[in-house]
Amino acid sequence: MNIPETMAAMVLTGHGDIEKLVYHADWPVPQPADYEVLIEVSACGMNNTDVNTRSGWYSKGVSDATTGNAYDTVDSEDPSWGGQPLSFPRIQGADICGTVVAAGNRADRSLIGKRVIADCWLRDWNDPMNRDKTGYFGSECNGGFAEYTTIDYRNVGPVKSTMTDAELATFSCSYTTAEGMLSRAGVNNEDTVLVTGASGGVGSALVQLARRRGATVIGMAAEEKHARLESLGADVLLPRSPENLSDALQAAIGTRKISVVADIVGGDTFPALIECLQRGGRYTCSGAIAGPVAPLDLRTLYLNDLTFTGSTVVEPSIFKDLLAYIESDEIKPLLAATYPLSDFHQGQKDFIEKKHVGNIVVSMTE
Ligand SMILES: NC(=O)c1ccc[n+]([C@@H]2O[C@H](COP(=O)([O-])OP(=O)(O)OC[C@H]3O[C@@H](n4cnc5c(N)ncnc54)[C@H](OP(=O)(O)O)[C@@H]3O)[C@@H](O)[C@H]2O)c1
Repeated sequence: MNIPETMAAMVLTGHGDIEKLVYHADWPVPQPADYEVLIEVSACGMNNTDVNTRSGWYSKGVSDATTGNAYDTVDSEDPSWGGQPLSFPRIQGADICGTVVAAGNRADRSLIGKRVIADCWLRDWNDPMNRDKTGYFGSECNGGFAEYTTIDYRNVGPVKSTMTDAELATFSCSYTTAEGMLSRAGVNNEDTVLVTGASGGVGSALVQLARRRGATVIGMAAEEKHARLESLGADVLLPRSPENLSDALQAAIGTRKISVVADIVGGDTFPALIECLQRGGRYTCSGAIAGPVAPLDLRTLYLNDLTFTGSTVVEPSIFKDLLAYIESDEIKPLLAATYPLSDFHQGQKDFIEKKHVGNIVVSMTE
């Protein structure tokens, strides 16, 4: 295989505004370490983690909604998802699709030539269930906003599917996150699940994966996006933040109760979400795009016997399940747009604006 020495890459030079992301046409192509494969990346999906890490939103010093702009309250000790400082330069991007073109000495060479996607959670493969020993692809190491990347061979999964590479690059982060939330909350066919941010990457995954489990699903999303969302299978769609959520639910589902709230929005809507849960209900959360700090009436939590679960690092089996759902066409991609790597800034601006439905992907072949 003829592998060049340099490649195009979008390089993050530090925390801050979008200008911290700098395009290079001649960045060195990485070499795979012993257990790694080298992947020629064809597409890489965008995620809020990229934006949050760049802007420093994960820092406890920040309490605003995600804006994509630099925050002046970022603490240099905790600007990443894992609460640790990052080193720069860093290539972000977790949701790759591409072809394995080389393998390290101890990696599985049979992967060479295969079209793959990757599990975004980097693990200690001697202790893969230990969440304290995880990193995120494109955060603690370089990721996929480049023509080539390396990753542990145990993180990649070959995919047989008629979907395009850009479509396959919509799944990994959003769908493993969504499946992790549903699995931790034990969602089943007796549940009625209320999904916030249902038009986004994780939200649209939650709708499809909760339906897959047989649950009744109510999605909350901006009304202009409802038509596009109808095909995903939500039983009911409500606005992003109804004036009175309890009344809106009553009008939509009558006396039926919400047993699970799957929330990635938080912010001002959070208290109403908690109040609409039935006694014994479960609240599961993986994000807080509208604001990470929200009031909780502890009486509602304990008097209603609620269970709260957070979900970020998921077990390796969830990625394997995702591959099976893709190959059996149980889930559909929701590709909103692709941008060439050289137009990354515009792509990320549009991603932050949230006029789209589903996922935005960077294409290395455009
Ligand atoms: N824990 C993890 O491992 C993990 C993994 C992936 C994502 N996340 C987090 O989960 C959250 C959602 O991620 P995602 O990829 O699904 O995001 P996304 O694709 O950007 O979708 C988020 C959706 O939330 C809705 N929304 C409601 N209030 C909003 C506000 N104030 N600002 C912006 N959007 C708002 C928007 O839909 P409408 O316009 O239709 O209301 C938007 O489409 C993010 O905070 C992300 O960091 C966490």
